Amino acid sequence: MNCRDTVPLMSLLIRGGRIVIAADDYVADVLVDDERISLIGAGLDVQADRTIDASGKYVLPGCIDPHTHLDMPFGGTVTVDDFESGQASAAFGGTTCHVDFCIQAQGQTFAEALETWHAKANGKTLIDYGFHIAVTDLRDEERLEELAALPEQGITSYKLFMAYKNVLQVDDETLFRAMEVAASSGALVMVHAENGDAIDVLVREALARGDTAPIFHALTRPPELEGEATNRAVQLARIAGCPLYVVHVTCREAVDPIRRAREQGWRVWGESCTQYFFRSIDDLAQPDFEGAKYVYSPPARDAANHAVLWDAVRTDALSAISTDHCSFLWDGQKTLGKDDFTKIPNGGPGLEDRLKMIHHFGVGEGRITLSRMVDLLATQPAKLFGLYPRKGTVAVGSDADLVIFDPERRETISAASHHSRCDYNMYEGTEVVGAPELVLLRGNVLVEDGELVASPGSGRFVRRARFGETLAAEPATAP
Ligand code: URP
Ligand code: ZN
Ligand code: ZN
Repeated sequence: MNCRDTVPLMSLLIRGGRIVIAADDYVADVLVDDERISLIGAGLDVQADRTIDASGKYVLPGCIDPHTHLDMPFGGTVTVDDFESGQASAAFGGTTCHVDFCIQAQGQTFAEALETWHAKANGKTLIDYGFHIAVTDLRDEERLEELAALPEQGITSYKLFMAYKNVLQVDDETLFRAMEVAASSGALVMVHAENGDAIDVLVREALARGDTAPIFHALTRPPELEGEATNRAVQLARIAGCPLYVVHVTCREAVDPIRRAREQGWRVWGESCTQYFFRSIDDLAQPDFEGAKYVYSPPARDAANHAVLWDAVRTDALSAISTDHCSFLWDGQKTLGKDDFTKIPNGGPGLEDRLKMIHHFGVGEGRITLSRMVDLLATQPAKLFGLYPRKGTVAVGSDADLVIFDPERRETISAASHHSRCDYNMYEGTEVVGAPELVLLRGNVLVEDGELVASPGSGRFVRRARFGETLAAEPATAP
């Protein structure tokens, strides 16, 4: 990776690009002054320190990834991408802000967990970031009070795992109590919705039969168990009175209860992740342990679900697409489970590939519009996670987090050229048309001409607004 020092720009004029936001699509100039967008208009009669000709290009808001796991201990190892390599990878893919999961260890206070995660990020960051708190232990009454106070620190989303028994899974009491806290603290509750208890039984039965190959990861986590947990979370959130966001939705069984809830006007949203539109259960059956590359949870489903997911994101049954980037080396980390699929660390890479893949196969093949793509990758994540309108759009006063996207640029996705430390790419060899050419973070060049320009430490922690509140367009502050 090539780095050169960031030179802070005072002003920047982007001329003649096609500005694509969730609600509009038009050609205009954008003036950036001191980190923010100061003016938008056709044929602006202004001077700037640097002018970029964006004719024939799209000017998009920097994408926001609401679901990443950097430097996370999991499955007996630690993800291979830390904040530096993970965020570099994000930057090359046009993502300028992400919200990572800060995981509370058993018996830990949330303050201790946050201190650990801030330390992981400090000095390494290239893009802006926030944290969700992943709640694993609420047994101590004090934790409930601490949880209620987290939105004051800009931690405005609580994540609970309904799976990963004896590791991260919480029981329904814990889930429901966190939901009640969220209902009054202004946080959004996020759930990993799979029935971990039933999965645990199926896993033990599979191992007893000697079924140890990667494919049994998928076969012991059937879609019905995702649907059941999704519906349970929707109903519990309804009773608790909190807003709910279901992460990494993979299949019809889970889309249906979310769609029904949304049709009723309930405060329920769902996301899917890039890999679920492209990978299928057949990938886990690849020989020579190659299937382990696709071991993540919930698992890739049968290919018929690809159309279900495209339809869901087009019709707003699902409102965002994240990556769930949780990268492990195939050689040395995934191989921990060579003889037992339960020991394969769960997760896959993808932070860099989301925009290119969704643009090529979503917009390019006519499944969604350009504006809907921006909505799914930037605007909805910003609105749902308290970043809007500072981020997630191209508007006067917003941070100048911008992607100059060349719709004609041809790239072949590969581990040989990606910026993650992962030794494989889930879309290896895929040829896409359309890729970021220049990426700006708060008006500063982050990536240009295939080079990383920013230096580690330039990304800032963002204190996010409470659910449903807007984030004022003022400078992000340090933790
Ligand atoms: O397999 C996955 N998805 N790993 C990351 C943790 C999670 O469940 O999101
Ligand atoms: Zn999960
Ligand atoms: Zn995840």
